[in-house]
Amino acid sequence: MSEPRVALVGASGHGLWHRRQIAPMQEAGRVRLAGLVDVRPIEAAPDAPVPEGTELFTDHREMLRAVRPDVVVICTPPQTHLPIATDALRAGADVLLEKPPVLSLDEHRALSDVVDETGRALQVGFQALGSAALAELMGAIADGRLGVVTGVAAVASWHRADSYYQRSPWAGKRTVDGHPSLDGALANPLAHAWMQCLAIAGLAPSTVELERYRCRDIEVDDTACLRITLESGLPILVAVTLCGEEKIEGEVIVYGTGGTAVLEYPTDRLRLPGDSEFREVPGRTSLLENLLAHREKGEPLIAPLARTKPFTAVLDVLHAAPQPTRLTDDLLSESGVAPERFLTIKGINAVLRQATERLALFSELAVPWAEQPLRVALNEEVTGA
Ligand SMILES: NC(=O)c1ccc[n+]([C@@H]2O[C@H](COP(=O)([O-])OP(=O)(O)OC[C@H]3O[C@@H](n4cnc5c(N)ncnc54)[C@H](O)[C@@H]3O)[C@@H](O)[C@H]2O)c1
Repeated sequence: MSEPRVALVGASGHGLWHRRQIAPMQEAGRVRLAGLVDVRPIEAAPDAPVPEGTELFTDHREMLRAVRPDVVVICTPPQTHLPIATDALRAGADVLLEKPPVLSLDEHRALSDVVDETGRALQVGFQALGSAALAELMGAIADGRLGVVTGVAAVASWHRADSYYQRSPWAGKRTVDGHPSLDGALANPLAHAWMQCLAIAGLAPSTVELERYRCRDIEVDDTACLRITLESGLPILVAVTLCGEEKIEGEVIVYGTGGTAVLEYPTDRLRLPGDSEFREVPGRTSLLENLLAHREKGEPLIAPLARTKPFTAVLDVLHAAPQPTRLTDDLLSESGVAPERFLTIKGINAVLRQATERLALFSELAVPWAEQPLRVALNEEVTGA
């Protein structure tokens, strides 16, 4: 049997990461990169050169007709995901679709219908769900090592320069050319943090409380606090910023009556109750490998579309929320020179830590710049009631 033919739609930006993932798989005879699609000239990458025989396209429909790929990896801006994924599934391909898979529950329903109608597989690019560290943490919870879980939190303090908001047309935007789009700390770079929390805590969110802030003239949040309460009453508290002080890589914290566990999800380092320090738990199942194993041996998908429905329900809330509050300049410090200028919220890391320790919103911590949260009850379709 010849190796599966893979096509990548969106070859630059994060698409370069996918090209680097596919290159060794092609070398090993596991796949063949049959087509690359991008509306812009395809960026050269010395560590992921375009293999001989790969056909180049500017339109994914043309590629689907010409190449008839077995698997399509889609790494284009979120507002393009639904039509491209729909076309790929209807052309008979299985799909690895970058996160966020779609931008609303309406789109989620539409895409689920296409998955059902075509019988093809769709995996969503939440790659941290394939980590051995997450599996070990979930195993420890299931074995009762944390006692009864009483709360889950996520914290991350990153920095992004002005140039980050010039990287592509949807950067910092909630609409592009009149179409909904969604960038922002919660929806984009730090989405993995709360997807990990949802994976750990259960998948039936009942209410969402949200505070969003911005330090620049962008349309989305660069700093946010989100509390998702599950039907069981279990809270998930997420406190993140892209205007941070010293970097907090990204921690998912699980509180239990028998102790606390911390997973540093970007680095797969784990600290279970009783551990004196973090320990690396190497190993991630690649979502593309898992999709291939699903095709070949029926292995369960790690991140099927259905698993991202609660995540998408929360995105709906983000979308409907008013523009984030603009923090005044006196609350910020500045370093570097535009376009590599960084803004930092003074004292933000202590606020993030307190929020996650107390499972409290910024406004509940008497943070002077905090605004009242938006509170939304999710409907029965999402809660499963
Ligand atoms: N899983 C992760 O950790 C991770 C990390 C970064 C980005 N992402 C996701 O990857 C996706 C792409 O993000 P990005 O920052 O690379 O975006 P981007 O705007 O840089 O776009 C990626 C590429 O897609 C191309 N493109 C745009 N529209 C296209 C179309 N209709 N057909 C073909 N090509 C098209 C662009 O020219 C660009 O080369 C987003 O969904 C983003 O959230 C995921």
